[in-house]
Amino acid sequence: MTLPTAAGLLPDDIFMKTAIYPGSFDPITNGHLDVIERAAKLFDHLIIAVANNSEKRPLFPTEERVRLIEESVVGLASVEVTSFRGLLVNFASERGALVVVRGLRAVTDFEYEFQMALMNRTLRDEVETVFLAAREEYTYLSSRIIKEVARLGGDVSGMVPPPVALALPAALGRASAS
Ligand code: PNS
Repeated sequence: MTLPTAAGLLPDDIFMKTAIYPGSFDPITNGHLDVIERAAKLFDHLIIAVANNSEKRPLFPTEERVRLIEESVVGLASVEVTSFRGLLVNFASERGALVVVRGLRAVTDFEYEFQMALMNRTLRDEVETVFLAAREEYTYLSSRIIKEVARLGGDVSGMVPPPVALALPAALGRASAS
């Protein structure tokens, strides 16, 4: 059986095997990495999609966020890292993916995540969102809090992949100079 998508007709089984894990990843944390490792076991192909959202002013430019993720997932053969612009559901159908993966840390995440999942399903009914529970020890982690602690001189090296720990001082220096 084939299903219609924006990109044309694709075989049914492509949809079951490809999932997208979208996010800002500014920067990737150990919590994100945990979700990536879990999702990579569930799907044949996992696309980590960095949102290139011009409304937000990220600390790391899109290309650097992609590179930091690539350097953090070496060894995970089924994982691809890329960026996208515009609506996630359009990118998902271009890439033949019907599953969006998101991590849930605590009940406080739920309202925002539920809103996004329902909006995405309203925009494109065949796109399903799958939530993966983050490992307990990472539930307090977020990119925002990492940046705040690092900016104030705290040690975040146990909370982010090594490439991010290395890149943070320069990025924070650039941001404070601008
Ligand atoms: O890591 P984040 O910032 O919580 O990720 C949010 C993200 C990037 C997944 C979401 O903002 C998104 O999908 N943006 C793309 C634009 C879009 O499709 N918006 C409608 C869905 S709410």
